[in-house]
Amino acid sequence: MSKHPLIQKFTAAGQGQVFAFFDELDSAAQAQLLAEAGEIDLAEVAGLTRTLLGGAAAGVDLTDLAPALYERLPENGGDAAAWAAARAAGEAALRAGSVAAFTVAGGQGTRLGYDGPKGTFPVTPVKRKPLFQVFAEKIRAAGRRYGRPLHWFIMTSHANHAATEEFFHAHGHFGLEPARVHFFRQGRMPAVDFNGRILLESKGSIALSPDGHGGSLRALARSGALDLMAREGIDTLSYFQVDNPLVRCVDPAFIGWHKLQGSEMSSKMVPKAHAGEKVGHFCVQRGKTVVVEYSDLPAAMQQEKDDTGRLRYLAGSIAIHLLDREFIRRMASADEGTQRLAFHRADKKIPTVDAAGRPVKPDQPNGVKFELFVFDALPFARNPVVIETARADDFSPVKNAAGADSPQTCRDDQCRQFARWLKAQGAAVSTDASGLPDAGLEVSPLFGYDEQTFAEAWAKLPLKPAVADGLYLE
Ligand code: UD1
Repeated sequence: MSKHPLIQKFTAAGQGQVFAFFDELDSAAQAQLLAEAGEIDLAEVAGLTRTLLGGAAAGVDLTDLAPALYERLPENGGDAAAWAAARAAGEAALRAGSVAAFTVAGGQGTRLGYDGPKGTFPVTPVKRKPLFQVFAEKIRAAGRRYGRPLHWFIMTSHANHAATEEFFHAHGHFGLEPARVHFFRQGRMPAVDFNGRILLESKGSIALSPDGHGGSLRALARSGALDLMAREGIDTLSYFQVDNPLVRCVDPAFIGWHKLQGSEMSSKMVPKAHAGEKVGHFCVQRGKTVVVEYSDLPAAMQQEKDDTGRLRYLAGSIAIHLLDREFIRRMASADEGTQRLAFHRADKKIPTVDAAGRPVKPDQPNGVKFELFVFDALPFARNPVVIETARADDFSPVKNAAGADSPQTCRDDQCRQFARWLKAQGAAVSTDASGLPDAGLEVSPLFGYDEQTFAEAWAKLPLKPAVADGLYLE
């Protein structure tokens, strides 16, 4: 048996099973396994075994929970002057180049059943542009508008990093300057059995999976992204998920609210569509803003109504945030103690090997994966602001292959948005009662990426195109 120091360390920590088949591997496979093992923080795994696996799984703490307050949109009773001031402040920040876009794209996209990085999924209604292209064009257009090309950070996973980079190369970075598009990998965590023993995926490899979007905070620090931001004078990251093409990648009013309130982490909410909608809930708990996941808020609470008959826990999280650079640094560097994101436990069916090294495909959960959630940083942030946004302007994710939040619902929502912009300019667009146009419509973000930029570009068109048979505007 080899006496590599890492093997000794694992054995001493009760994790020697990781190397059970080491002597059967060729030298390349041995090196690979050692490299994977080297990624693992054994003390962290031991700590998680104690806190998350010991005894009965502790539920989420729901004591003293109340709905979070949020800034209402002017059309829903919010302060129009404050929104205008926020917008102006956000535009000034964009002109000063102090904001960068940030996409978390490390997820595995299992529910969609799409083979490839999710950002390469063709999402638009007419041109079938991939998600990454939609964001790239919005970011390009905003950079042009404010006279400061934006930096864009993209967090990938080990599984999709190379494919993501290749995709951008193959498409000329969709017109963005390559030097302003930054890819970095998120970290990985080992899966363990219910006794905390690290699982092998095969004789020569550990069952490792991405450490959750909350891993972005430490990955931003580790990759040098925060230092790059500091050098470039960027103090704010506009965070969004890869699954949502409707998102305003950089939204001036949101940025302004964040800056004017001196917030370290701000968020957008939409009123939940119905009690059971699968989104997190913005809440307050003992003076801190928190997000309680749909799976953790009991159904009875999700259905509670207030005096006006609206859902009491109305504020749905659409996973759009602004994060202050130095706040990220603080959260990423915090050692044991209060300033640290806590891992969540997810029981999963994890393909592994049996004692003889034969592959096992479990049909019941056989182990646990550990994930960090970015919204768990909220309670640590100074002045976290939550603002309302209109769902139709910011949120239509692609999560499932069919049904809710699917490619079809997302294409429809994009068409509705383009139809609305056109109608607002007096164009004749025939739609059904839900606002869905009869023919496919698509507006390139390079033409207009929100109602205002669209209106300006439309006004400049010498000849207005007919819409009846469908339309693509660029
Ligand atoms: C997520 C949020 C939920 C929110 C909803 C809005 C969680 C736990 N829940 O749900 O509160 O209402 O989005 O759409 O996040 N990702 C990584 N690395 C990882 C894991 C995920 O980059 O290790 C990225 C994915 O690529 C994706 C995003 O994070 O862009 C969301 O992940 P997903 O697991 O799909 O979250 P949801 O359960 O849909």
